[in-house]
Amino acid sequence: MSEAVADKDAGAVAERFTELYGAEPHGVWAAPGRVNLIGEHTDYNDGFVMPFALPHQAVAAVSRRADGVLRLHSADVEGGVSELRLDDLSPESDKNWTAYPAGVVWALREAGHAVTGADIHLASTVPSGAGLSSSAALEVVVALALNDLFSLNLRGWQLARLCQRAENVYVGAPVGIMDQTASACCEEGHALFLDTRDLSQRQIPFDLAAEGMRLLVVDTQVKHSHSEGEYGKRREGCEKGAALLGVDALRDIPYADLDAALARLGDEEEVRRLVRHIVTENERVERVVSLLESGETRAIGPVLAEGHASLRDDFRISCPELDLVVDTALASGALGARMTGGGFGGSAIVLAEETDVDALTKTIQEAFTTAGFTAPRIFEAVPSAGARRLR
Ligand code: GLA
Repeated sequence: MSEAVADKDAGAVAERFTELYGAEPHGVWAAPGRVNLIGEHTDYNDGFVMPFALPHQAVAAVSRRADGVLRLHSADVEGGVSELRLDDLSPESDKNWTAYPAGVVWALREAGHAVTGADIHLASTVPSGAGLSSSAALEVVVALALNDLFSLNLRGWQLARLCQRAENVYVGAPVGIMDQTASACCEEGHALFLDTRDLSQRQIPFDLAAEGMRLLVVDTQVKHSHSEGEYGKRREGCEKGAALLGVDALRDIPYADLDAALARLGDEEEVRRLVRHIVTENERVERVVSLLESGETRAIGPVLAEGHASLRDDFRISCPELDLVVDTALASGALGARMTGGGFGGSAIVLAEETDVDALTKTIQEAFTTAGFTAPRIFEAVPSAGARRLR
């Protein structure tokens, strides 16, 4: 997102804060949503991921309080200001949107950080339920604001860990570390090659426009509402696979040992499929990194398509709408395409030559109409800045 647009967001959000709380905010922060280029469901297996930040972001105007009170308001949800007492915050007690920011405050305090209260107004342009990390954006923007306002001096990856804890324990969703780290640590013009075991990271230049390409996000508008139970089941299946194979995490199975590992799993067919996806997906991330680093950007297309087939056939988390985007795009000249994010709905990405973008967009839209599906929302994703203070 250009700085001019970010400034406008910051101004509008600060103004609304002042109306709500009767004084100007102490500051305004932003944290983006993300798309994942490759490396799906590898993060809770200690594996590799490669997300980049979207221009869509959550913006928070925030002031410090000293009286143990947390006041929360969102421009995107109907209803007034919610007022909570910090001492009353307790895991899984809140089923509303407020659980995300409140969970972050809870996680910070539980880790021993002296956060004494805050007034927060949030506004987000990250589509929710689209697999683009709208929740992580909310968590990270709040964490960064409190980090600054209470001089906690935590680094991006540390904030990401606390946000993940908020989501795992306070909200009760068993997610990995990718989305929060992407929101906290991504850089404009780059994809983030992240090793989720130790959170070591490398910024990989990813400027498609300079090479005459574009990356489209196709939001199928299928909300991944049933995903949580299924997500947890996949996670448990992967943990079972690691236990049967005697490793800490599936990350520890080298690609060269995949066949031997599958043979050892015998008739555990479901676990075998999960293991095959994770081991091959880690190898795909490494392949994409080396292709990008050697300037062979177009050659990542087929790797993305392979990743989709693995998520569809082995991990079994695609859906007809996501498959339709990918099949249509690949049949109509896209360089590559795959579902992105947790699955069961949400979004797909399409890598294409710039000159093919208009025709591809039209063809995908027509395919949805013909299939009787809700029209998808299609937009271009430009690798954008990670979380930062706007004013
Ligand atoms: C969701 C989770 C992430 C990750 C992806 C799948 O986005 O929040 O931690 O597991 O699904 O790659």
